[in-house]
Amino acid sequence: MSPVATSHTNGSTDAATDIQAIKATAGGLKPTAILSRTPWQPPIARSGHGIYIELQDGRTVIDAVGGAAVACIGNGHPTVVKAIKEQVDKVSYVYNMQLSNEPAEELARYLVDSGKGAFASCGFVSGGSEAMEAVIKLARQYFYETKQPQRTNFIARQLSFHGNTLGTLALAHHPARRGPYEPNLNHESFHHVSPAFAKRFKKPEESEEAYVERLRQELEDKFQELGPDTVIGFVAETVVGATTGVVPAPKGYFKAMKSVCDKYGALFILDEVMSGMGRMGSLHAWETFGDGIAPDIQAVAKGLGGGYASIGAVLMSQKIADGIRDQNGFWKHGHTYQAHPIACAASLAVQKVIVEENLLSSCQKQGEKLSKLLNERLLSPNSPAAPFTFDIRGGGLFWGIEFDFTGPEAVAYDFKGKQFGGLVQAKAMSKNLVIIGMSGCANVEGTKGDHCILAPAYNVTDEEVEKIVGIFVESVEEVLSEYRI
Ligand SMILES: Cc1ncc(COP(=O)(O)O)c(C=O)c1O
Repeated sequence: MSPVATSHTNGSTDAATDIQAIKATAGGLKPTAILSRTPWQPPIARSGHGIYIELQDGRTVIDAVGGAAVACIGNGHPTVVKAIKEQVDKVSYVYNMQLSNEPAEELARYLVDSGKGAFASCGFVSGGSEAMEAVIKLARQYFYETKQPQRTNFIARQLSFHGNTLGTLALAHHPARRGPYEPNLNHESFHHVSPAFAKRFKKPEESEEAYVERLRQELEDKFQELGPDTVIGFVAETVVGATTGVVPAPKGYFKAMKSVCDKYGALFILDEVMSGMGRMGSLHAWETFGDGIAPDIQAVAKGLGGGYASIGAVLMSQKIADGIRDQNGFWKHGHTYQAHPIACAASLAVQKVIVEENLLSSCQKQGEKLSKLLNERLLSPNSPAAPFTFDIRGGGLFWGIEFDFTGPEAVAYDFKGKQFGGLVQAKAMSKNLVIIGMSGCANVEGTKGDHCILAPAYNVTDEEVEKIVGIFVESVEEVLSEYRI
């Protein structure tokens, strides 16, 4: 897996990639005191409006991926700017073990109500990894309080990502991301089953129903292997984000997995850090991409604050909230900046903008346009990219484009050991378009396959969608033409 692939999420610095190509797009930057999480020095942003970011070197780039599917309403939205300023004037900080605050209370109520009965309570943290770490602890606390202390095991999936702390790296499974830290990870409590990725792992002769049943049986077998009453829960990203590149599960998958959890009294847990809070065109991804099945516990982050503040949240059902309230009565988990008033005020304003500007339907509409244009441009019979465009997948404004160079046409290309996803990312950046280009999606070892991710803000315009697709396709085609033998 390349540093291009890892830079967005785990900062690994594995070797072979197109580091020079990316460095070249960074321009002549002065040395920095920051220890970069990429092998190259990123250009410096100075200001931003909507999806446009002005850089210190005078360029203006289009952010076609919201950073990492974060900036869901773009930069500089006046409603959010005003809310942040007003909150600073009111109260900037209180510690939530001593005092709660108004925006935190209002945001919690909004989030709980957003589940239409699915959620009864919520807790705040400062980002996605913290949210998933908190999910692990909340789920364990639930069984600790409800007198099932023997439940210590989590079952998650291969090719998943749940964060960069040691706990969340152990919970998730991607060999390259875990690599350096493997000796420090807990292997006793965290277990893994296959990803739900039909395009890569469904057998050719298998129907979708049979594939789902195979995955259900595998989960049930894992419960049996561990001892069904030792399992705390099954954990999955509703739509897999960075590792495999926007992969929704086959229809009926979540229903099947939840049935196993229910059978053995374990929890059904969803990580919607990347796919949630509107990104898929519904506020919660499970409403549209998870068989409509609400989880017992859910993590949200990126789109919650839209990049205006570092914030994440853990949402829980009545069962979980009661299990804890009726026994010990409080959540045994905290950080200094939990429920930060300014972060909550910013996040509340972002969520109000999404509602007031009807951005979930914009997200659906522009997503359809983005997907239609990508299909037309990349898969048309005369497109040079068509033989290598393996899959265009996603929903809302979260799209993955997977490329494959194992077919007969690939002999005409030599990427000189570099990874296609990284080359496209670099090429797009040289054309002032920010995208994510990654590798390692095509096998469970995470060593093969290339994909790019597009995830612009929900208020992106028609014209901007056309511009994004135009520059992206141009970048793909130019890389192909440069590396043709
Ligand atoms: C599904 C998922 N969970 C957790 C995280 C970790 O979030 P953060 O980077 O905010 O810590 C990410 C980040 O990309 C993610 O995609």
